[in-house]
Amino acid sequence: MRAPLYSGVTRTTESARSDPKGTMSTPLLDRTAETSVPVLDVLAQRWSPRAFDAKTPIDENKLAAALEAARWSPSASNTQPWRFLVARRGTDLHTQIDEALMGFNREWAGTAQVLIVALSEDVDAEGNPRPWAQYDLGQAVAHLSVQAHADGLYVHQMGGVVRDQLRTIPGVEDRFTPTSVIALGELGDPSDLSEKLQQRELAPRTRRPLSETIIAIA
Ligand SMILES: Cc1cc2nc3c(=O)[nH]c(=O)nc-3n(C[C@H](O)[C@H](O)[C@H](O)COP(=O)(O)O)c2cc1C
Repeated sequence: MRAPLYSGVTRTTESARSDPKGTMSTPLLDRTAETSVPVLDVLAQRWSPRAFDAKTPIDENKLAAALEAARWSPSASNTQPWRFLVARRGTDLHTQIDEALMGFNREWAGTAQVLIVALSEDVDAEGNPRPWAQYDLGQAVAHLSVQAHADGLYVHQMGGVVRDQLRTIPGVEDRFTPTSVIALGELGDPSDLSEKLQQRELAPRTRRPLSETIIAIA
């Protein structure tokens, strides 16, 4: 049973159960997409929050499963042209990644239990280009995000990062391109966000209609 909460936002009894102690001043949000045809629940229910749980440590099994899902995503000739820097909150690496975020991303992403830098391997160890690297990396991150969501974690990807700053992290070879940073963790309380970010957190989720996306269908 769903009861309307905000415009385009619904709250489920399941969400209310997710905060049994009632410690959050705002209940966990269900921002399920209003799809034109049914899709897998995990796809409709995935969304990108900015309010992350800033206190609880990450569930290690769920983190491992998200990374394993990325590992098993398909890639051109099975080249797997992706690498990750994985940083738990409280570590120097987490701080270093947080400091490389741009603009308003710095306001909220540092609370995430894990920050992950997603890097594409644009050139292999022998110097040969990997033309599908960015495509494959995006697909690996998509798998990661779906697995995470199925396990009750949330993902928010960010392109607003200073790439050159991430390049200075030990282990990041020149042939790897830091492409995005992923905030991963449990949902936090939106009322902890600034007013501006709260508005974004609660704004209706929208998409262009399929009819404008499919150029031709025969
Ligand atoms: C490659 C990429 C870059 C993004 N960059 C940012 C960012 O820098 N800051 C931010 O707050 N959200 C960022 N987002 C999140 C998108 O704004 C978000 O996915 C989109 O609005 C759709 O919302 P939903 O994920 O909740 O469906 C990014 C998403 C992707 C995939």
